[in-house]
Amino acid sequence: RRLVVLVSGSGTNLQALLDAIDEVGAEAYGAEIVAVGADRGGIEGLARAERAGLPTFVVRVKDYTTREEWDAALAEAVAAHEPDLVVSAGFMKIVGKEFLARFGGRFVNTHPALLPSFPGTHGVRDALAYGAKVTGCTVHFVDDGVDTGPIIAQGVVEVRDEDDESALHERIKEVERRLLVDVVGRIARNGYRIEGRKVVIQ
Ligand code: GRF
Repeated sequence: RRLVVLVSGSGTNLQALLDAIDEVGAEAYGAEIVAVGADRGGIEGLARAERAGLPTFVVRVKDYTTREEWDAALAEAVAAHEPDLVVSAGFMKIVGKEFLARFGGRFVNTHPALLPSFPGTHGVRDALAYGAKVTGCTVHFVDDGVDTGPIIAQGVVEVRDEDDESALHERIKEVERRLLVDVVGRIARNGYRIEGRKVVIQ
């Protein structure tokens, strides 16, 4: 299976996928990353891809007159690599109709909270501010909402009294990286079934 990964920041989830595939080999894992894309340049996530010798692309919102044109350009850039599965690993933009028309059903996202709680850009901060005792991370299919697509897997992380946002986010990311590597591999190897909102992966 061919994976395209989209990032916007440090790319540690991308790195976890790269390391896992390196460790067991693309054959055994069931997938190889064929390209990495971002919505901005100069980020560590792209540097990680370049160090791994992968093709990269950047599609910036500000380079397009409308959001729809950006969305279509992003879809084109991804399609050029003929992915079987697209993974948003800390990609911080909401994709539109064109992108979903082409990749819906094979576009997964990882979110650092237990959806449907605390969707959006500040899931970690919001859980902390709310006083949640447990939070975690969710890997889900992307649909036309924000963090509302069918849930594939979740991991629980306890919130500690002394936590601030970055400490809690780091602890969530430890679980998140393992969850993403596990889920992407299983979908790549065995596919998935979906009944309503219920996703079943072998
Ligand atoms: C991840 O926790 C992801 O869920 C959130 O931003 C973080 C990205 O981390 N959207 P990284 O870029 O993979 O290190």
